[in-house]
Amino acid sequence: MKALLFAAATLVTPFVTSSAHAGDEPMLEEARKVATSLPPKMLATLQAEIDKSGPAGAIPVCKDMAPKMAGKVLQETGWKIKRVSLKTRNDVRATPDDWEKAALEDFDKRAAAGEPPAKLEKGEKIGNEYRYVKALPVQPLCLNCHGSADQISADVKAVLKEHYPNDRATGYSEGQIRGAISVRKPL
Ligand code: HEC
Repeated sequence: MKALLFAAATLVTPFVTSSAHAGDEPMLEEARKVATSLPPKMLATLQAEIDKSGPAGAIPVCKDMAPKMAGKVLQETGWKIKRVSLKTRNDVRATPDDWEKAALEDFDKRAAAGEPPAKLEKGEKIGNEYRYVKALPVQPLCLNCHGSADQISADVKAVLKEHYPNDRATGYSEGQIRGAISVRKPL
């Protein structure tokens, strides 16, 4: 039934962009569900680690646990999931491709025009794939590792310098868009 509904939806709407509402397309809903499954887990784990061992001790959560969780999502759902940014910390993992870059630039424009960053998303069927990105706004907790120089402790700075010589992901303030969660799946 789900497949049938989807087939019908693709006939009527060959692709759906950010203006789509829940229910417009099963693929959009599925992508949104996958993309929103990880950030709350990451946030809770980051907070717990920061409470336990300080921000420097929480760096492995972003560095090692995030890709592990992504691997698990791929295994369980068939969706590839990653994080991308216009100002990367890990340029190997998080450099956006052209489609992601255009979406991120559009998110920045729309946020500057007053749209709430947490609502920014884009879903689109491209060729034989469905792709979806959702903005990741900076929350107070993120500033420990992505804020201005005076918000980042000396030990965090030292670890970042050691692992990320090309780090461009500092100097953010609360509410700005740090990047996006990007998911894709063959149709
Ligand atoms: C304890 C330090 C720390 C905190 C807190 C933190 N991050 Fe990060 N963040 C990192 C590190 C380290 C990386 C690089 C991960 C890697 O190697 O893939 C990273 C990478 C990212 C990336 C991937 C893009 C890139 O630049 O490489 C995004 C997006 C991101 N963080 C968003 C956030 C958001 C949003 C928050 C707050 C909810 C946050 N981070 C909190 C340390 C942190």
